[in-house]
Amino acid sequence: MNRVLLEKNVLNDKINGLSDKEIGEKYSINLKKIEQIITKEKGVNVSNINTSKKLRKLAPKDFSLESNTVWSFKSRGNWATHNGNYRGNWSPYIPRNIILRYSQENDLVLDYFCGSGTTAVECKLLNRNFIGIDINEKAIELAKDNLNFEYLFGGSVELKVADARNLSFLKDCSIDLICSHPPYSNIINYTYDNELDLSHLDTENFLNEIKKVAEESFRVLKDEKYCAILIGDMRKNKNVVPLGFWTIEKYLQAGFKIKEMIIKRQHNCKTTGFWYNNSIKYNFLLLAHEYLVVFQKTNKNDYFDEIADEQDFTISFADADDIYLETTTVWIANTLDYFDIAINNLAQRYSVNFCIINSVFNKSADLIIYLFDSKIDEFIYKIQSAKRNSIVAILCEDKRLINGLVHSEPLFIEKKLRDNEFLKIKEIVILTLENNNQINSSENLNINHKYLLIYQKVK
Ligand SMILES: C[S@@+](CC[C@H](N)C(=O)[O-])C[C@H]1O[C@@H](n2cnc3c(N)ncnc32)[C@H](O)[C@@H]1O
Repeated sequence: MNRVLLEKNVLNDKINGLSDKEIGEKYSINLKKIEQIITKEKGVNVSNINTSKKLRKLAPKDFSLESNTVWSFKSRGNWATHNGNYRGNWSPYIPRNIILRYSQENDLVLDYFCGSGTTAVECKLLNRNFIGIDINEKAIELAKDNLNFEYLFGGSVELKVADARNLSFLKDCSIDLICSHPPYSNIINYTYDNELDLSHLDTENFLNEIKKVAEESFRVLKDEKYCAILIGDMRKNKNVVPLGFWTIEKYLQAGFKIKEMIIKRQHNCKTTGFWYNNSIKYNFLLLAHEYLVVFQKTNKNDYFDEIADEQDFTISFADADDIYLETTTVWIANTLDYFDIAINNLAQRYSVNFCIINSVFNKSADLIIYLFDSKIDEFIYKIQSAKRNSIVAILCEDKRLINGLVHSEPLFIEKKLRDNEFLKIKEIVILTLENNNQINSSENLNINHKYLLIYQKVK
């Protein structure tokens, strides 16, 4: 290790709270050498160089990169200056994973919805150069404050008030990674009355404006690089409003391809009490997931005839008594019996009078299950004669393509059925496996979720 790097590492370890003994053993150097390095940097020989904010620690304990497509963090993460004070801020585990997986040290990372600076802090800790903008000057002040801790960082951080729809201060193809978390239309308002704040817009206007952000993202990102955004759905009159899919579509229209569709589980929704009871009484599911989409700016094609590994659904039925009635949008299986969980939950929630349309179509069924295949036009034709008010559940998935991109069936299906006069979308359910922490050294995440798109026949 060269001298400069050794000095930098020793100082960082010191700030991180490692003892002199641990540092000595790590780099095979004696105490004298450690003191020399500190004195050179600080001008005095001090044993403790954490003189600024009292930080708990500068990295999460026992961190390992996520390797599956369903991410769930037990705690939101409170290392460095991270805390949950800024409403709607994201867990630092998210940018940490994205930054580590999709960028290198000294790369330039952009967060155009910077908020309280969670991404900024992670860039500082991980030695990435950073540009953060937000429409709210108070958020930028907060981000600056959160960045104000001692850590040896040789890179640059630029924070400013600006509009994510207009990145004209950035050159074409100048950014290595975009990692950002937009408002979810007007679910949470981030300012009182700032007219440029996208969190004051209704769904239609929000989508028109996020399209401009997507186009700017595509322009400023370097070729073959990645843009990750976190976005969730909304609910209106007991039905889901698929804001997530619609936002993703704007990024695809701007020219991006999907590298990963990650499901971020949310743990703040109530699975007991008032909401639990209402979910059963009024028959709707509590939103418990968001989409963390990693887009790539690439010319690789995302045609779905180039699928890497085709998986078959195995159909078997568990004893319905063993099945827990799910009340949120994430349905968990313990083993590979997710299909049982799906069928039994659908049957319990909607009707036991069901059919699987791929094999037998019973027009008088109250619940029609479609295992998505390539014959969607045939399905649309058949479904017209199903009973009014029946429930139609479509089981589908994200498929890994040979070139590493993802073809997302649910996106395709939702788009295809969006203006269908017979079907109205009611729920988007994620099926996944509990405790499936499959370690995976591949460049691609291991896809361990599927979807149920639940529609109601309205005519
Ligand atoms: C979900 S929050 C981001 C939170 C951030 N990830 C964090 O951890 O603190 C969305 C942010 O977008 C900002 N915002 C809204 N409209 C904007 C616009 N037109 N340009 C830039 N930022 C905007 C809001 O002020 C808010 O801080």
